[in-house]
Formats: sequence, structure tokens, C-alpha cells
Amino acid sequence: MLTSGERAGRRPRGSGIRGPHSALTDFLAANNISAQEIRDSYRDRVQRAEQDAAEADNGEGSSNAGEDAEADLQAESSAMAAERTRKRKRNQDEAIAKIKKGKEAKKKASKKKKKGPDDDSEEDFMDMYKKAKKLPGQLENCELCDKRFTVTPYSQAGPEGGLLCTPCGKELKKEVKAQEKAKQKPVVRKGRRKIESNRLDGMTVRGPKSLQQLCIEKLAKHSEDIDELGDMPESIMNKISEIFSKKRAMNPTTMKLFLQPDMDTVAIHESAYLETEDFDQIFAVCPSVKKLSLRNCCQFKDSNIDYLIEKAKSLVDIQLLGANLVSNDKWIELFIARGQDLKSLKVEWLDAAFDDQAVEALTTFCPNIERLKLERCKKLGVDSIDAIARLEQLEHLTLRFYDQVPREKLVHMIKSVGAHLRTLCLEHFLDSDSDPTDDILDAIHKTCRHLSKFRFSENTECTDDGYVNLFTNWPNPPLRYIDVNSLRDMDNTNPDGPTDYPVGLASGGFQALMAHSGPRLEYLDISSCRHISHATFTDIFDGTKQYPHLRELNISFCPVVDTQVVAGIFRSCPELKKLVTFGCFQVADVVVPKGIVLIGAPKAQDQIEQFGDTLMEFQTELQREMDEMRAAGRFMPVVA
Ligand SMILES: *[C@@H]1O[C@H](CO)[C@@H](O)[C@H](O)[C@H]1NC(C)=O
Repeated sequence: MLTSGERAGRRPRGSGIRGPHSALTDFLAANNISAQEIRDSYRDRVQRAEQDAAEADNGEGSSNAGEDAEADLQAESSAMAAERTRKRKRNQDEAIAKIKKGKEAKKKASKKKKKGPDDDSEEDFMDMYKKAKKLPGQLENCELCDKRFTVTPYSQAGPEGGLLCTPCGKELKKEVKAQEKAKQKPVVRKGRRKIESNRLDGMTVRGPKSLQQLCIEKLAKHSEDIDELGDMPESIMNKISEIFSKKRAMNPTTMKLFLQPDMDTVAIHESAYLETEDFDQIFAVCPSVKKLSLRNCCQFKDSNIDYLIEKAKSLVDIQLLGANLVSNDKWIELFIARGQDLKSLKVEWLDAAFDDQAVEALTTFCPNIERLKLERCKKLGVDSIDAIARLEQLEHLTLRFYDQVPREKLVHMIKSVGAHLRTLCLEHFLDSDSDPTDDILDAIHKTCRHLSKFRFSENTECTDDGYVNLFTNWPNPPLRYIDVNSLRDMDNTNPDGPTDYPVGLASGGFQALMAHSGPRLEYLDISSCRHISHATFTDIFDGTKQYPHLRELNISFCPVVDTQVVAGIFRSCPELKKLVTFGCFQVADVVVPKGIVLIGAPKAQDQIEQFGDTLMEFQTELQREMDEMRAAGRFMPVVA
């Protein structure tokens, strides 16, 4: 509660109000508005208006200066003169602000600037309706700030067709220039964005595109007008299909272009626009298809599986990603009907069906399966792990579960199927109920002898020692592909992890990994393995040690990586094509050698002069391609 004294205190002091108040004064006072201020500001405004009138008379000069004006002029104090100059300046400033804001002004001005001499006639015609322009030497009021000035041959035209004083003219010119610059900017940025996007897509080539690439892009651009793709190698067909998918141009009409009766593989990378009957088309047109790969096939239903079972008798490889309308029983039916032939199955993003029973059926009826990938299937639980453990003939296994899987189950599975595996990918396997152990790594070390691709990611349990033991004296030959991203401790309050026993792939583990697989390694992802030290990086990539096959390396979010590490990598990896360094904020000013693309380092720019070399190479390449086509009689030289 406010006391009456406090309330009174809110009233601005010096308001000079005494005695009984009007209701309005009370209201204003309660809202912290002073009646005195209002009165003062009103008085100011009246005074200013009077001054303006007097000034206008002075400004007009002798033409209509009466005796009164003469008297006024003399009476004017020097203070008044100063005030006038200030006011002029203010007017001018206001006018400049007006230029900056006025869109209309900009538009007209730039139009005028761009127009060639031929367009002047229209301009002149429009001018007929305007006041006649003053000639050089005459006095004129600036169109924007209203200041009086002497017209020169260089006086600029204002937005309304009048003339501008020198300061306003300059400002307008500046604006127009800035505007033109701004217009060019987005174009530049767009090009850069496109380049970055292509890099992320793996299109790391600079310089002119190949003839083949140009043709494919042309096709994709006119996807709706193509009647037939004709006789084309499947690899190119697949490339076109990829581009169509990326451009969301894969629809029931364009899909048919990719179906040819004798095809081995049908791969549609984006099937979201396809309907149930379109999927039947695949088996009707290509009954001999061996490999079927459909991504985002949301409308693939039970009836499609029925038709597949009936028609596609050669199918050995099935990838159905996002086929959520296929029921559990239908999956089981598929395995019963086709299990004997099935060599490869990949399913992903299933949340309505495909449960442990389906996996049970799979392991029972598909004795010849070699390749299995089950990722992000919501219904899968621990029992599936036991079922998969029975697939001893497996060569490639990729799993990513939502459920927690107890360690001993996983260890049992690896011990059962590990011996023949060439690919082992275990992503995101967590068991927060058990104590951290290295049992899994130990099992891999003891059972796996033929791995060439290994992914073990998003794990916060195994220790650095565990990784050291895995890679030390491992009878498995050096690996070609290793993805061990995000093996680190995850305690927000202690980002460096425990010091007595490092968790995740830290310095020791990384040393052991490179010692084991470095000579053969082509692909390595150690992103977010944040406990690897700077000294380890500079030792492994010291510029002298060589990793002759390493082509792609992702070291994103390893905080110690700096320019020195990156430079060392360039020298130690002669075959490197791609280096990814997102979140490595200490990488700057590094010279990227020709043929390598560095992704994610905002401060490091490619050296522009390398572009010249690349251009030469591509011209030679283009020439070679044209020569080949000419030799094949597909290309008639223009010169006879
Ligand atoms: C590199 O690793 C980061 C972090 O794991 C990941 O987000 C990114 O997609 C990877 N980039 C490439 C090109 O492999």
C-alpha cells in the first residue's frame, strides 16, 4: 500500500499545482504525466511556428520583403541566427534520413540511373507535367531539405523530379550505390551456399562439370518431359535416379522411366510420392529384379508384399526403409515364402510393426542371410539380440536399437556371430543399469578375425584401456573403415572426463587404433572423441608417419584440433580427399592443398589460385571425353 505522502511524491516536482485539482490533473498526476510539461511543450511549438514564419520571410529575400520584415531582420539577435542554422542542419538531417528510408525514392533514382539515353524520351514526357527545371546559376530550394542553393550543371535530380542541394545529392548517390552493392551480394552468397551444399553432398570437384554430369543435370531439369531414358548403363540410371530423388522429382510418372524389364536392381531413393499401385508396377515390369531398395516407402502395404511374393522370384536383397504399413504377420509371411533365397535384408525407421517375433521368423526361415541391418525399429527388444545370435553365417551386421540391451546379451551375440563378420556396426548401445565394462570390446578382440568395416559409436561406458586392448595384438587384419564417433564420457560437470581412467576413445586408444589399422585405413571418423590430446594428434599426424590410403577423415568436435594438427594431417595423408572439422574452432588460416576439400572450418578458405590448375585439368578431361564420343561416331564435328 502506498501512503498518501508517497503517492504525492510520484508527482513531478515543480509542477506548481496548488489548491483543488481538476479530475484531469489528478489523472495525469497519477499516471506520472505533468500538466506543466504539456503546457511547456505546447508553448515551444507555438514559438517555433512563429519563428518559422519569420524565417520564411527572410529567406524569400528582397522580392517580398516589406518594411516589417526589414525591421524583424534587424531585431533578430545573433542567438536567433544560430538557432536558424541549427534548424537548417536539422532539416537537412531529416531529409537525409528520409532518403535512407524512402523506398520510392530509391526505386525511382536507380531506375533513372540505369536507363540509357534512349529511354530519356519517356522521362521527358513525364517531365512535361512537372515544374520547369531551374537553369545553372539560378536559385532553387532543395527538394528534400528545402534549403536554398545555387543550381549548377552538376545538381542532381531528386526523387520527385526537382533538384537537390549538394549534400542531399551526395547522400542520394551513396544510397544508390549501396543499394546496387546489396543487390549483388545475395547472388554471391547463393553461389557460395551452393558450393558448400555440394561439398557436404560429397561433390567435391571444382571447375567445369563433366559432360556426363551436365547431361544428367539437364535430364533432371526436364524430368516431366522425358518419355523414355532408353538404353543406359545401370550405374548412370542409378545416378539419375539419385538426382531425381534429391530434387523430389520422383513421382508415379517419372518412376516408370527407371523400370526396365531386364533390370537387376531397382533403387528408388525417395519413394514418398509413390502410391501403393506404383510399387506393384515394379514387380510387374521387372519380375527378374534381384535387388530392391526403397527409401521412405510410406505407402508400401501388405498387398505389395503379396504381389512381391507372387512375382519377384529372383529377389535376394531387400531394403525397405520406412515401410510402416506392412504388418508384422506379413513380414513373417515374407520370410516364410522367400527366406531360403534371401541374402540381405535392411529395414529402418519402423515403429508400427516388425517386432521380436518377426526377427525370430527371420532367423528361422532365412538360413542363408549374410547381410542384416536393423536400425531404429521401435518394436525390437532384447529377444531379437538372442535371435540374431543364431545367424552364424552372417557377414555384415548393423544394429541400432531403441531399447537398452544388457551387456551379457550383446557379448553372447558377438561371440556367436563374430567369427565370420566382415562388417560390424553397433551404434548407440547403452546399458545404464550395468557398471561400465569393456566386455564387448574384449569379445570383439577375441572373436572377430575378418572385420574390414567397424562402427562402434555413441558409447559412454567402455574405457580407453578397453580400446587399447582391442587394437593391440588383434589378429584381425588392419581395417579399411572405422567409425568410432562419440566415444567419450558424458558428465556435463566434468567435460574432460575422469583423469584416473579415461572413458571413451582417448589418447591411448587412438594410438593403438592407428598403429593397428593406419596402413590400410581409408575412412576414419573420430568426431566427438573429445578426450584425445593435442600431443597425440600431433604425434600421429607428424608429417612423417604416412597413412597411404586414408581418403576421408572426420575430426569434428575434437576441441584440441588446431591449425597445426590439420597441417600435419595434410602431410601425413597423401591420398586425403575430405577432411571434416566442424566445431574445431582453433583451425584458421590453413592452406588447403589441391584436391582436398576441408569442410566445416569457417575461418580457413581455399586458396583461389589452385582453381587455375583444376580448370586446366578439366579442360583436358572434357577434350578427352569429346574425342571419345567422336571416335564412337556419336559426335559430328561442326567443321566439315
Ligand atoms: C562428421 O561428424 C559430425 C559429428 O559426429 C557429424 O555431425 C557429421 O555429419 C560428420 N560429417 C561427415 C561429412 O561425415
